[in-house]
Amino acid sequence: GLLRPSGMFLLALVAQGLTLENGLLRTPPMGWLAWERFRCNIHCDEDPKNCISERLFMEMADRLAQDGWRDLGYVYLNIDDCWIGGRDDKGRLVPDSKRFPRGIAFLADYAHSLGLKLGIYEDMGNMTCMGFPGTTLDTVELDAQTFAGWKVDMLKMDGCFSTSEERAQGYPKMSAALNATGRPIAFSCSWPAYEGGLPPKVNYTLLANICNLWRNYDDIQDSWNSVLSILDWFVKHQDILQPLAGPGHWNDPDMLLIGNFGLSFEESRSQMALWTMLAAPLFMSTDLRTITPQNMDILQNPLMIKINQDPLGIQGRRIYEVLEEVYKRPLTNEASALVFFSRRTDMPYHFHTSLAKLNFPRAKVYDAQNIFSGEIISGLWSENNFTVVINPSGVVMWYLNPVKNMDISETMYQL
Ligand code: GLA
Repeated sequence: GLLRPSGMFLLALVAQGLTLENGLLRTPPMGWLAWERFRCNIHCDEDPKNCISERLFMEMADRLAQDGWRDLGYVYLNIDDCWIGGRDDKGRLVPDSKRFPRGIAFLADYAHSLGLKLGIYEDMGNMTCMGFPGTTLDTVELDAQTFAGWKVDMLKMDGCFSTSEERAQGYPKMSAALNATGRPIAFSCSWPAYEGGLPPKVNYTLLANICNLWRNYDDIQDSWNSVLSILDWFVKHQDILQPLAGPGHWNDPDMLLIGNFGLSFEESRSQMALWTMLAAPLFMSTDLRTITPQNMDILQNPLMIKINQDPLGIQGRRIYEVLEEVYKRPLTNEASALVFFSRRTDMPYHFHTSLAKLNFPRAKVYDAQNIFSGEIISGLWSENNFTVVINPSGVVMWYLNPVKNMDISETMYQL
């Protein structure tokens, strides 16, 4: 297995409060997931370009590798529901033979040859949410071995068509079974979303022990309302959820909608910024063959990705809410990210504040870089008042760096 008990290892366990130590996902995973955009389209005769098939995944793999995505960190190519054809005479899962004629191992090889990783989907229950064969308690080990044999790199385990008791047994069992294969397979658990997402029904200490990420809440749909309802739930429960995230174990507010039909330009930027503040996995679910340059810019912003992938892995919080909202995320080297978010729908809102008013330490100097415009404000004191203009349903996002070695003492500043 992957667990090698040693003095150091036990010490690490104590220090980190017993979290899953398969060494994976030290930063939130980035990649592409089929579900939100391509759903359960199995009509390859009518719609060969967009049906769930090896062609779709190979074409997305090509785009990930050739259009700059992979090199920015978007390396996971993840299959979702509706790939399964059934089980063979030995009980092993097999893909739909019409839509995946060369099998999943072939797709994994293809992804690996392009420097990508392949993710797959199953369901802890009698059927997947769309009614394909699920993993039951007696097939957990076999299915884990099948996925490892195919050289799969991630498993999303859904929770439809099972009881709470079956899920309580099945998820830890699958985690152990994946570990026992010896292949590093990141484990994404939808378990909490099926139990209301909150303690005491959800045991997040256990979750962090067995899963690398988990869906806490409802499925995202292609609308701004859906984004807001997910954001609201995560913020409402941030005292519980924020401390759970960290290297190797992440909250998952679900996929990015950017590039699809439901979000405006400002809303697209807002989802990207807010998901980054939440230290969320960045799973795009859009057609990378036809995405516009404007949407690519939002998803490929290097400073945005750097913040999402900050090695400290601390999830951000909403720190201020009146007419507008402010989110803060602490980063390495005493840097931080700020998002100013407006839900207004009338006109750009002029928000007057200062870092001190946002509870930053007094008498400190910062450089602030605007993540979308690139504009830099140098030498911003905590006490300096400033104004940000936030578009309707939009954000202004800053990367804040403390200016070190300022040759000015607090006393001098106060004079
Ligand atoms: C559930 C999950 C979704 C997706 C579908 C597939 O609803 O939450 O993310 O995987 O099942 O059927």
